[in-house]
Parts: sequence; C-alpha cells; structure tokens
Amino acid sequence: MVLEILKERRSIRKYQDKPVEKEKIDKLLQAALLSPSSVDSQPWRFIVIEEKEELQELARSKTGGSSFLADAALAIVVCADPDASDVWVEDASIAAFSIQLTAQSLGLGSCWIQIRNRRHDEETKSEDFVRDYLNIPDYIRVDSIISLGYPGEEKDFYTKDDADFAKVYQGKYGEKFN
Ligand SMILES: Cc1cc2nc3c(=O)[nH]c(=O)nc-3n(C[C@H](O)[C@H](O)[C@H](O)COP(=O)(O)O)c2cc1C
Repeated sequence: MVLEILKERRSIRKYQDKPVEKEKIDKLLQAALLSPSSVDSQPWRFIVIEEKEELQELARSKTGGSSFLADAALAIVVCADPDASDVWVEDASIAAFSIQLTAQSLGLGSCWIQIRNRRHDEETKSEDFVRDYLNIPDYIRVDSIISLGYPGEEKDFYTKDDADFAKVYQGKYGEKFN
C-alpha cells in the first residue's frame, strides 16, 4: 500500500558500499518518467550518476546538506526545460518524489538534495556549479539531486501520530477538521 511506503520512507544520508542493480535503476527511471505533469508536458530530464568521482564532485554542490552524496551508490539529477512547462518546478518535484517512493519500495534509501535556489559559494549558485560540471545546457534548469543507495542507517518509521492533523481544516480555512 502506498501509505505504508510513505510511512516507512525517511531521508537516508548514509549508504552501504554496495551498487544498485541496473534493474532497480531502470525501475526508478520508469517511476520518474511515468509521473504526472501539467498538460502532459513532461519537461523533465534526468542524469544518472554512478561514477564515484562524479558523486564526490556533486557532493560539493552546496555549502551544506549535500556532502553525504559522496558515499551514495547513485544519484539522479533532476532537471527540466522551463520552455516546456510554466510549472516545471512542480513537474520536476513530482518526478523526484516518485523516484524516492519507488526507491523505498525497492529497499533503497534516498534523500532529496535541493539545488534550485541554493548556493555553491558566495559567487556561484548550486545550479551553475552542477550545470557546468555535467554539461547541462544554459536553458535547462536543475531542480534537485536525489541521492540513492542501500541504507547504511536506520530511522524510525512514521506512524499516524506523526501526521499533524491540526494543519487540516474542515469546510473553511481555520475550522477544525473532524
Ligand atoms: C524540497 C526539499 C528539499 C530538501 N533539501 C534537502 C537538502 O538539500 N539536503 C538534505 O540533506 N535534505 C534535504 N531535504 C530532506 C528534508 O530535510 C527531509 O525530508 C525532512 O527533514 C523530513 O525528514 P524525512 O525525509 O526523514 O521525513 C529536502 C526535502 C525536500 C522536500
């Protein structure tokens, strides 16, 4: 059940030193490519990264929150063509989360690494750092990188008690959900 997968999924930032099988990578990409998008525009592009040297370099994309990528087995860089969709951020984000949910269902851990609107350093945006390193054309935007691998850490699953129903209203904004 998808709800069970959602409860079990946590951000995993430590990975076993074990490659992800090609069949699983193929399934992760199917999940991304079969995601819904505005007017079926499918503006996304994905770059699969398995080379250690590339993972280590991409781990330097941001001032914080990306270093663990160096020890991941795999990364999928999530990009989009903004000319193909005026809501490319939403389209790319849904595809990125499809990858994360499918990873969980395949026994893999994952973590979202935000690239858009983040900085590599004072002079360089994370997007430009990633774009330069991976030869991404100027007109293509980089949304995020999903780090992936067999989990090297355990985290508590979520339960229904973790779902903050105070943020849900009934009928009108602010009215208690019952
Ligand atoms: C849009 C978005 C951006 C995120 N950016 C990062 C990031 O750059 N680095 C990181 O380590 N985690 C990142 N995360 C993961 C969140 O920190 C994590 O989902 C949140 O703390 C909840 O923990 P959980 O994923 O274990 O439920 C991001 C998550 C989302 C949805």
